[in-house]
Amino acid sequence: MRKLIAGNWKMNGTKADLPQLHALAESHKDATVDVVISGPATLLSRMAETGLAIGGQDCHPSTSGAHTGDISADMIKDTGADYVIVGHSERRTDHTEDDALISSKTVAGWNADLHVILCIGETEAQYRDGETLNVLLAQMDHSIPNAATAANTTIAYEPIWAIGTGLTPTPQEIADVHAALRAYLVDRFGGEGAAMRLLYGGSVKASNAADIFALDNVNGALVGGASLKAADFSPIVTALEQSA
Ligand code: 13P
Repeated sequence: MRKLIAGNWKMNGTKADLPQLHALAESHKDATVDVVISGPATLLSRMAETGLAIGGQDCHPSTSGAHTGDISADMIKDTGADYVIVGHSERRTDHTEDDALISSKTVAGWNADLHVILCIGETEAQYRDGETLNVLLAQMDHSIPNAATAANTTIAYEPIWAIGTGLTPTPQEIADVHAALRAYLVDRFGGEGAAMRLLYGGSVKASNAADIFALDNVNGALVGGASLKAADFSPIVTALEQSA
């Protein structure tokens, strides 16, 4: 399994930030892991010119049509991108996206030949109530389409309370959750589920990356804030390359 480190720029970035990507591309042109930056739609074409693998942050379930302001998976592919994030908790919250919609966006991504990074995660209240696994298993049941394979899909576990807060679950908690996610994926998808990459996301930074990457069933990370500057993201890429 080739590991994956993905940056999610969210609603950040203008052309003034492109040098960050050129620096990253130069530093990691021989990377032994997959390195992806999911940028804002406005920059994707120019980001793709850096030679780095590029992703969108969302796509519409339809291929085209009267959907003002939306972007189709084909349009994302057309920029030179090869990945798309779907189901991020900020989409689920800000745009009331549910699992059924996320499932249809996943299929749209596949149909455009994009690799889908599908996000799941529990709220702080659900975490406190001990509901984490119930929430995650239900999200996977309803948002991962049956045709998911290791080649077309990566699952990203992002506890909502860990996003942008500086908080993370303990290593043991991450390991326990990822073991349960792996068991679910193997049970449902067999060998494909065993080979599907599982990312952790939520306040990953250079100082905690190595400890997180050392955990079983953590096959990379989805990184927000620390992906915006090459100087912050590059050591995380290196930590993943150096993980066993
Ligand atoms: P932070 O790394 O900023 O916590 O964001 C995580 C995230 O939401 C990535 O998709």
